Amino acid sequence: MADLTTIILAAGKGTRMKSSLPKVLHKAGGKAMLAHVLDAAKEAGAGRSIVVVGFGGAAVEEALAGEAEFVTQAEQLGTGHAVLQTEPLLRGEKGTVLVLCGDTPLLTGTLLKKFVEEHAAAGAKATVLTAVMPDATGYGRVIRAADGTVAKIVEHKDATKEELGVREINSGIYCFSAPDLFAALHEVGNDNAQGEYYLPDVLEILKQKGEKIFAVAADSYEETLGVNSRAQLAASEKILRRRKNEALMAEGVTLMDPETTYVDVDVVVGRDTVIYPGTWLEGRTVIGEGCEIGPNSRFQNVKIGAHVTAHFCYAHECEIADGVTLGPYVHIRPDTKLAAGVKIGNFVEVKNSMVGEGTKLPHLSYIGDSDIGAGVNMGCGTITVNYDGKKKFRTTVGDGAFVGCNSNLVAPVRVGDNAYVGAGSTITKDIPEGDLAIARAHQKNITGWADKRR
Ligand code: UD1
Ligand code: CA
Repeated sequence: MADLTTIILAAGKGTRMKSSLPKVLHKAGGKAMLAHVLDAAKEAGAGRSIVVVGFGGAAVEEALAGEAEFVTQAEQLGTGHAVLQTEPLLRGEKGTVLVLCGDTPLLTGTLLKKFVEEHAAAGAKATVLTAVMPDATGYGRVIRAADGTVAKIVEHKDATKEELGVREINSGIYCFSAPDLFAALHEVGNDNAQGEYYLPDVLEILKQKGEKIFAVAADSYEETLGVNSRAQLAASEKILRRRKNEALMAEGVTLMDPETTYVDVDVVVGRDTVIYPGTWLEGRTVIGEGCEIGPNSRFQNVKIGAHVTAHFCYAHECEIADGVTLGPYVHIRPDTKLAAGVKIGNFVEVKNSMVGEGTKLPHLSYIGDSDIGAGVNMGCGTITVNYDGKKKFRTTVGDGAFVGCNSNLVAPVRVGDNAYVGAGSTITKDIPEGDLAIARAHQKNITGWADKRR
């Protein structure tokens, strides 16, 4: 549908959120609400997407740069006034415009596509998507004429007691013929409870002109749920997470407990991976096949290969290759790359480091700003001393090296290939290939000392 243009309203402050962040940038399922709406529009075939921004507009434009065109509504005078701001961009546009709100993150491309097709088939100048809500509080109510057609939409704050009893609501999703939309918008007034120019008034205006307006009722209200408050945000979040978990299970991922598994919408997980409770997979995280992840683990933008085991881990902005084992209680920090078969054990932190194939960091270590070769064994308690209080320095450990327990490697320093470090050493000078370095005080035994003390 190349001639389909989408207008997304996102200028409102979202007063009921009580936030300094624009409402549409609040995240659900790990993604800004507005990004969900934009994705749904694109999936439905929108050729052009125009976002109306206002409150926090610069932040909204920055967050979605390159994803849409933006137009500013300087004063938020209502949804009708918001759409009117796009008129200069759409002069001469003869096609269909799909109008959406930026605060409905559960919309799908499938629903929108069907809606646009139904609008086209009806040959109407305007079509509104309606839904029947269990609790319609806050929504505009759809008032039907005696013949069943839509007579008008009444906002909650303007509704009579009788109208408040109506549970069929305006989803805030419409299709319009562009020229008719803009002509009618110029006639919309603001004589209502909120003193705003309401977009839904366009329907009544078109109807009075004798134009055909049409309504499509959604099969389920879920997709049209709007977010005006934190409680509604949490409700949408829950639905998005449920959908994602169902999709993962359908693709062959085992979730031991979907109720306590939190996977952002864009995360990818391979077949036969098993995810234990209390696990968070966030952002652009990708996990390969046959992994065992969790319990109680958090991954943010991590690329994980196949057959990785990770118990009680926190990893972010890093890469973990096939067959790595992590945990329990491991922290893998940004810019780290763990090669295949690496083993990172109990209470180990790794930051901005490369760790070579098959290397073991089994217990109680801090490895920062380091290049560790393949087949290295770093003994319990090995620490890279990477910071002198002003600058950070790198540590290099060659292939096959063996570092004894409780050693300090004071950077910048290099441990050669196959070199050994005696336990308890503080290494400040490079160790050539194959050498043994011992850097600790000699032991002295004082005969009979205990008896003499008594
Ligand atoms: C709106 C509809 C209501 C519908 C509901 C569906 C109107 C007058 N009411 O009410 O019938 O049931 O959506 O969720 O349209 N916005 C602007 N500029 C403005 C005002 C709002 O861009 O001047 C944007 C907001 O950022 C938001 C969207 O329009 O994304 C809807 O505004 P909101 O205040 O949430 O309207 P509702 O009261 O929910
Ligand atoms: Ca709303």
